[in-house]
Parts: sequence; C-alpha cells; structure tokens
Amino acid sequence: MIYLDNAATTLRKPECVVKAVTEALTTLGNASRGAHGSSLDSNRVIYKARSRAAALFNSKRPEQTVFTNNSTEALNIAISGTIGEGDHVITTELEHNSVLRPLYRLEKERQVKLSIIKADKKGCVEYEDFERAIRPETRAIVCTHGSNLTGNLLDIKRIGETAERHGLLFILDASQTGGSIGIDMEESKVSILCFTGHKSLMGPQGTGGLCIRGDIDVRPFKTGGTGVQSYLKEQPREYPTRLEAGTLNGHGIAGLLAAMEFIDETGISKIHEHEIKLMRLFYDRVKDIPSVRVYGDFSPKERCPIVTLNIGDLDSAVVADELSFNYDIAVRAGAHCAPLMHKALGTESRGAVRFSFGYYNTVEECEIAADAVKDIAERSE
Ligand SMILES: Cc1ncc(COP(=O)(O)O)c(C=O)c1O
Repeated sequence: MIYLDNAATTLRKPECVVKAVTEALTTLGNASRGAHGSSLDSNRVIYKARSRAAALFNSKRPEQTVFTNNSTEALNIAISGTIGEGDHVITTELEHNSVLRPLYRLEKERQVKLSIIKADKKGCVEYEDFERAIRPETRAIVCTHGSNLTGNLLDIKRIGETAERHGLLFILDASQTGGSIGIDMEESKVSILCFTGHKSLMGPQGTGGLCIRGDIDVRPFKTGGTGVQSYLKEQPREYPTRLEAGTLNGHGIAGLLAAMEFIDETGISKIHEHEIKLMRLFYDRVKDIPSVRVYGDFSPKERCPIVTLNIGDLDSAVVADELSFNYDIAVRAGAHCAPLMHKALGTESRGAVRFSFGYYNTVEECEIAADAVKDIAERSE
C-alpha cells in the first residue's frame, strides 16, 4: 500500500518508537504510584518526555508540559480551563472541530461570544481582521498553525504579536505541525500550545499534550487520582498534576519520547524538507491536469505537506475508493472535521481528496500517486 494519509496519523513509525513501546509494556509501572523500581522507571521516562516536549517547542517550564490522550483533549483543557462567562474569543475558518466544538459549547454554556476570521477561496486569512475583531471583553485568540485541509500555514508570529500587544491569551493548535515545523513558543508568544503525538511527531496514538507558557491559571478539566496529596479534596494546584488526573499513558509516552529523540537526531528541518519535496513533486504533476482542481495557497515556501484536490464533478469518496481499490493508495476524502474550511472553499457537498506526505514516503510513491490521479481524471472526462 502507498500510504498518503499522514495528516490523519503517521502509519509508519521510526523503529526506535516500536522498540520503546514494546519495552515499556513489560517494564514500566504506574508513575507516581509507588516507590519501587518499575514505578520510578515510569516517572523517569515521563519526566524525560516532558523535558523533551518542552524543549521542542521552547517552553521554559517543563513542569507545565501536561500529557493528554491527543490534541483534542489538550484543546478542551486549554479552552474550557481559561475562557469564562461572557468572554469573547477570536478563531478562524481554518479550524478543526477540536477547536470549533469546544468553543461552540462555551457559546451555549458560558455565553461566550465568537468572532470567526474568514478565509478566502484559497484558504488564506487577512491578518488585519484579527486586530479588527478585538473588543474590550476579548480573552483569547484560538487558532491552528496549519490547516489540515489545505496545508496553508497561519503566520503565528504575527498573530502572537497581536495577542501579546492586546493582553490576550494565544492558544495554538499545533496538531499538523508539531514535529515537522519548528515552533518557538517564546518567539511566537504562544500562551498554550496543544499537540498530538501520532501525526508528524511520529509517536503512538493516545499521546498528546499542552505546553503552558508563564503564569497562566488553567482550571482542571477532570479531577481524580494523582498519586500525590491524596488527602486534598480538590485537584493539587501545582502543574502538571493539576491537569493530569488518572494513570498516564506511560507506554505511549515512552514511544513519544523515542519519537522526539528520533526527530532531534534526524533534524526537524531535514524531515520537513523531505516532506515538502514530495508534496511539491506531487503538486507540480497534478496541478495542470485538466479537470483537476487543487485547493490552498502554494505560493509560500513554508506549508504543511498536504495537497487537496477534486477531479471533475466526482465525489471525493468515489475518488478515494478508486485510489484505494484500483491503485492501493490510501488518502482521505470527505470533510476532514473542518466544516468551515470546506464551506469557504465551496467543497461542502462533495468534500475533497487529501494527499498528505510523511517522512517515510518516497519520490516513486508520489509519482505513482500523481499518475493515478491523471488516469482517473482522463477516464472521468
Ligand atoms: C488541525 C487539527 N487539529 C486537531 C486535530 C485533532 O487531533 P487528535 O485527533 O489527535 O486529537 C487534528 C486531527 O486531524 C487536526 O488536523
């Protein structure tokens, strides 16, 4: 199979990740739940992973890196833990439902007001719109770094600068970029960065987290056992236990640690350059095929390694099925949990076909996939 659905999850993981998870399954005890060797080993692995994740995003306080099951959970914690009754929040049409739904929920439950920055037909925003949307009661800007549909990046340095100048929280969804594009929380003034472990970080599913910059009071989303301060009736105040109730996914975190070590050793820019080379190669081969329509803005040098397209009038699911059954190529059709982005692109009814490239894909695979698109396009005319 040619796997081109890396934006959903990376299928092939570095060997060291497989080894680390396998070893952890038979050696790690429950972190912070004992003083015996296997529990302490689990603590050490989790501590190392915290420090690595903090370093990856230049977060100065490793203890404020909190592990979750994925970025959806991290975003729920960040959004519901900081935004209160009557606050105003700015977000964008590029967002995934893991940003939109927690915000819609607060609209109902806490009378939160939303301003949703519009995207044009290429999926780009006007940065002045962020500034224009700010009101006295604005509490936060919540947005993605990279669109999971078009692959367009948002200029987070510019958004962070706006947020900082107006004293707003900047909550960043780094699901599509963490591990593949360098992010510096200090430089981009990110208040809370949410990441998922199983996409470009190349770790196991069931891992993710959030990094909190500075003195931000994030209210706990869930409460429960922490292994420490057990006689307190409420969740301990200190990070990370404040936001980590229940046994952590130590086995998965061991794999995530190995993945982050692999990324550091290989070099994040080397990984990104390879992915971008494949994405450009594929894009150059499909963009001029009559009846193929590619979405997104390919003019900036920096973007996510994603090419999303439609062929003639074909439904995206029909194209994805054909690619799967006749060419053994795995892609993602449909709505990609990004309803407002599809509306902005005019692809609401039939969705779009997303090809997303990863570190383990090859030039040959991309050529075969581009030829398959050409074949289907010619046959559909
Ligand atoms: C931009 C973006 N945000 C959030 C998510 C949610 O990630 P997870 O399912 O790992 O929580 C995704 C996953 O597709 C995504 O692409």
